[in-house]
Amino acid sequence: MRDRFGREIEYLRISITHNCNLKCIYCAPGGDHCADSCSNTLSPADFERVVRSMAKVGIRKVRITGGEPLVRTDVCEIIERISHIEGIQDISMTTNGIRLDKMAVQLKAAGLKRLNISLDSLKEDRFRYITGGGRLQSTLKGIEKSLSLGLQPIKINTVLMKGVNEDEIDAFIQLAKESPLDVRFIELMPIGKYGEENSDKIVYNSDIISARPQLVFVNESFQGQPARYYKAEGFKGRIGFISPVSHQFCSCCNRIRLTCDGKLKPCLGNNGEVDLMDILKSDSDELDAFIRQAIFEKPASHNFGSSFSSVRNMSRIGG
Ligand code: 5AD
Repeated sequence: MRDRFGREIEYLRISITHNCNLKCIYCAPGGDHCADSCSNTLSPADFERVVRSMAKVGIRKVRITGGEPLVRTDVCEIIERISHIEGIQDISMTTNGIRLDKMAVQLKAAGLKRLNISLDSLKEDRFRYITGGGRLQSTLKGIEKSLSLGLQPIKINTVLMKGVNEDEIDAFIQLAKESPLDVRFIELMPIGKYGEENSDKIVYNSDIISARPQLVFVNESFQGQPARYYKAEGFKGRIGFISPVSHQFCSCCNRIRLTCDGKLKPCLGNNGEVDLMDILKSDSDELDAFIRQAIFEKPASHNFGSSFSSVRNMSRIGG
């Protein structure tokens, strides 16, 4: 369906848990532990019910996120239930890849089509520092396994920070040269304490592009896709740039979010939420109408440029 600004909303991102097995500096509040457990979490059957309603109003694509989705033991049941819903054409996931090597086969069997994997450093020590103790090798093994199973396209999400990992830009570009991976640089957003207090660490995508004339713009993205893709001679993958800070892409935003505690969040950069929990607990048939209303009223644009302060950090919204 279209929202009040005429945008076709067809993409749902579901954060199935707030918990995470890493503590990334820009995601956890103040560098603290991400794992704030959520007492009131939707079940696989609840997710299925919400997505059934969503499919009726035109949602076609679903992304499973978190927190870290693979820490939920019933993640495959959730995917399987959603994959059987009429109208849902695509199920993808954003993960840190730590558990992927062990779970990729089951995920594919459950109906998962493709993956985005967060990876902010290719150096073991630095990976450990950024993620608060994670092992680089685990994520790399997860990427390899997913490639071997054909869970493609695989997109690598890299958040660059000045003085932290900015010196690895060319190493990441090299990754897209050698492997069929789309490497995407995401500008650090002012969500959570770290992003709010470190705007001086933002690496602007326009600076990366202008310093590398070998990168040629490829116009392969479709409406609602925030990344702009580039390629270079002989590359197996592409380089993507997601620039929420320097370039708003709100006018073609096609997405809505659902949190594991039953809140619909129509916009990442806005604190507005619609609570579905009471309706889900009752047998009420109001769910469709509630969802319609929430989608219709999606805000025009995010508030990153002004005085916005997110009441949820990224692990509680869904990255
Ligand atoms: N700024 C930019 N990207 C972020 N992510 C999480 N928090 C932030 C932030 N403050 C990224 C994660 C994940 C993607 C979906 O969002 O690294 O890969």
